[in-house]
Amino acid sequence: MPDAASRPITFPAGFTWGTATAAYQIEGAVSAEGRGPSIWDTFSHSAGRTRNGDTGDIATGHYRRLEEDLDLLAELGAPGYRFSIAWPRIQPTGKGPVNVEGLDFYRRLVGGLRQRGIAPVATLYHWDLPQPLEDAGGWSERDTAERFAEYAALAAEALGDDVALWITLNEPWCSAWAGYGEGSHAPGDRNLGRASAATHHLLLAHGLAVPAIRAASPASAVGITLNLTPITPATDHPADKAAASRADGNQNRLFLDPLFKGAYPEDVLDHYAGLSPGFSVVRPGDLEVIGAAIDFLGVNFYSPQTVVARGRAEEARRAGFNVGPPRPNPIAEDLDSLAVLTPARPVTQMGWEVAPDGLAELLVRIRHDYSALPIYITENGAATEDYVDPDGRVHDPERISYIEAHLRAVHRAIEAGVDVRGYFVWSLLDNFEWAQGYARRFGLVWVDFPSGERIRKESFAWYQQVVARNGL
Ligand code: FCB
Repeated sequence: MPDAASRPITFPAGFTWGTATAAYQIEGAVSAEGRGPSIWDTFSHSAGRTRNGDTGDIATGHYRRLEEDLDLLAELGAPGYRFSIAWPRIQPTGKGPVNVEGLDFYRRLVGGLRQRGIAPVATLYHWDLPQPLEDAGGWSERDTAERFAEYAALAAEALGDDVALWITLNEPWCSAWAGYGEGSHAPGDRNLGRASAATHHLLLAHGLAVPAIRAASPASAVGITLNLTPITPATDHPADKAAASRADGNQNRLFLDPLFKGAYPEDVLDHYAGLSPGFSVVRPGDLEVIGAAIDFLGVNFYSPQTVVARGRAEEARRAGFNVGPPRPNPIAEDLDSLAVLTPARPVTQMGWEVAPDGLAELLVRIRHDYSALPIYITENGAATEDYVDPDGRVHDPERISYIEAHLRAVHRAIEAGVDVRGYFVWSLLDNFEWAQGYARRFGLVWVDFPSGERIRKESFAWYQQVVARNGL
């Protein structure tokens, strides 16, 4: 009998395999055909915000290489492809009529996918807020949620019938907390009051967009993608358990509870009480809007987290955990929680622990505590130390084993009764990895950034086989 790590497994019939990308990370052509600036243009062009000062000005050149990339997708053979639409291409200032030239790019993308038999999965917001909306207050203003619903309706009217799945937001935690709390992402503020208000307005934007998309394109399937992860205390000490519960509140329950239980978690509201504007922006009726019925949940997963209370770093070291040097982090400081690493676990180039069981655990928790809705793994993958061999090839065995182990975890969750319908590798192409610039590569396809040349990595051929076999 083959052991559990190598036994052949088959996914349910009709399982949607795919890869994922995001507009600002791949497109480049930031001022082409009427595109307006987004907060990521501003942020990446501000001194000291990204590694090496990298920007998405050129990125992988996908905007100009659309046909070539569509052919790559056809060659891969996966039945789905997840991409995002750049709001500032559709509405250059974040409001007003459609910029037809910008929209045409996505018509060509969606049409090109359909011609090749690939189901388009469109994310409406993968972090590129039109700069004029940030200038007017960004996600900490309620108006941004209303503007988003209008944009969603315009996109759905134009593309709705050809898009298989609509994802309103990608990882609203990052937009709110990395963007306004930690300052590591655009717009780079460090203000927990704004981060809290942004959380609510992002969720409200989602809730307003759901009926707007359905009205424009009644047959649409609509969902949202969250970045969720199990957060475990490193020890049984009550202080560590309390830290894990606070961190879980911020990362997971703050999003899942309003979407599926109609209320923000009380402990989290108590924790952030008194911030300005904070959750005082919540108005009567908003939670009903946020709880609008959806068709699926998207889950992005990379790594689980283990934490201790911040004063217990020494105890964590003694218990065998790796504790890095203290790094200023307003969110974790406020939560009195410190992330530690479990020594036996490998880490990727991002410094993220590889622990696939965390994905199975997460999926079972969602099913058990929140919802039986279909789930799509809308991102999962690894940055590894890739390089082009003298023979011109890219061998990336760590990426292959990362993805394989996570697919096995997904399969265990399916066997445990979780309705997982699809899996999208992050990412099709090496790309602009946000604050890490071009120094982190997640692609199944290598991109030579100076020339834009694409080289299929070993993982590309491996994933082709997974798709063809519908399993491992
Ligand atoms: C996720 C983002 C995605 C990519 C991966 C590595 O948080 O959604 O754009 O950067 O991380």
